[in-house]
Amino acid sequence: MKARAQAKIAAIDQERPFSKVLTDNFSRQHTYLRISLTEKCNLRCTYCMPAEGVDLSPKDEIMTTPEIIRLARLFVQEGVTKIRLTGGEPTVRKDINELVDQLGQLQPLGLKTIAMTSNGIALKRKLPSLVNSGMNLLNLSLDTLDRFKFELMTRRKGFERVMETIDDALALGMNPVKVNCVVMRGTNDKEVLDFVEFTRHKKVDVRFIEYMPFGGNKWKENKLVPYQELIKNIQAIHPTFKKLVDDPNDTSKAYHVPGFAGQVGFITSMSDHFCGTCNRLRITADGNLKVCLFGNTEVSLRDMMRQGKTDEELREVIEMAVKNKKKQHAGMSNLVNMKNRPMILIGG
Ligand code: 5AD
Ligand code: SF4
Repeated sequence: MKARAQAKIAAIDQERPFSKVLTDNFSRQHTYLRISLTEKCNLRCTYCMPAEGVDLSPKDEIMTTPEIIRLARLFVQEGVTKIRLTGGEPTVRKDINELVDQLGQLQPLGLKTIAMTSNGIALKRKLPSLVNSGMNLLNLSLDTLDRFKFELMTRRKGFERVMETIDDALALGMNPVKVNCVVMRGTNDKEVLDFVEFTRHKKVDVRFIEYMPFGGNKWKENKLVPYQELIKNIQAIHPTFKKLVDDPNDTSKAYHVPGFAGQVGFITSMSDHFCGTCNRLRITADGNLKVCLFGNTEVSLRDMMRQGKTDEELREVIEMAVKNKKKQHAGMSNLVNMKNRPMILIGG
């Protein structure tokens, strides 16, 4: 009976037309919202932050938890099924537990996935309670398996802690546990095979991310390692390395070495963009809606809320922003010269 009821609900969901507010002019339905909770971070990754640091917004410009929950609820009512919390580093936000708890209460409205992207440092201690509050998907950033290089790349210590957090997440039954690795030529590209080896006994999904240009991160085309090159290098050692089937909105191309516990993926934002199936919207910590990671048009939902605008008025502005979303990003050479926030102020 339960299965039949569930099938019926799924069929109704299928038939209900998707919100026009979150549908753009290229028929992309935005079911995935990424919310940045803070501009602060306890690491200083070179590819994310300019060496001189970033100017943080004054505290009163960062969204409050009631504001975040109001927006989350509105987006879920319009059809968002997945919310990812990002930063900066989301776990440095003091009320992270209450916030996730309140997001958990949106599940009856249709929110299925509460995800987080974290560097795994402050997360270790908070992980059990976050999972308890309903967080059910985790991406951890780890760009090197060498503790000394970790310090170079993040300008901080903490390698062991991240490794422990990965094991804790696996022990808590999180599946998958994704590990994000930004590959930079001359820095960590020689470690790709070590990361593949890392998946032999650990049920992790390591995703190699192409290095992208953002405000102040000193991106150079020769530091980008196109994913085809990585696949060739891996196949030279693991001839059985094989493509797996991807889900429609996956930004990652999945592969594995048959027999290994975990798997590998490639996020090919630069050499093979996935704009055509993009289902993501972003809200920055200071409350701007950003319809494209690489776009610099933003609208302040925070200001609207503080001006006392109604949900209906918010919906109208959100719809307008979504309808202005471009078909695809400007391409590698143009992105380098485009003015955009540093990654730390976008949130991935
Ligand atoms: N290129 C690619 N990915 C990046 N990230 C941050 N900066 C960059 C960049 N320049 C990703 C990292 C991290 C997440 C927060 O954002 O994978 O895990
Ligand atoms: Fe912090 Fe993540 Fe940026 Fe590194 S990449 S500085 S961990 S937000």
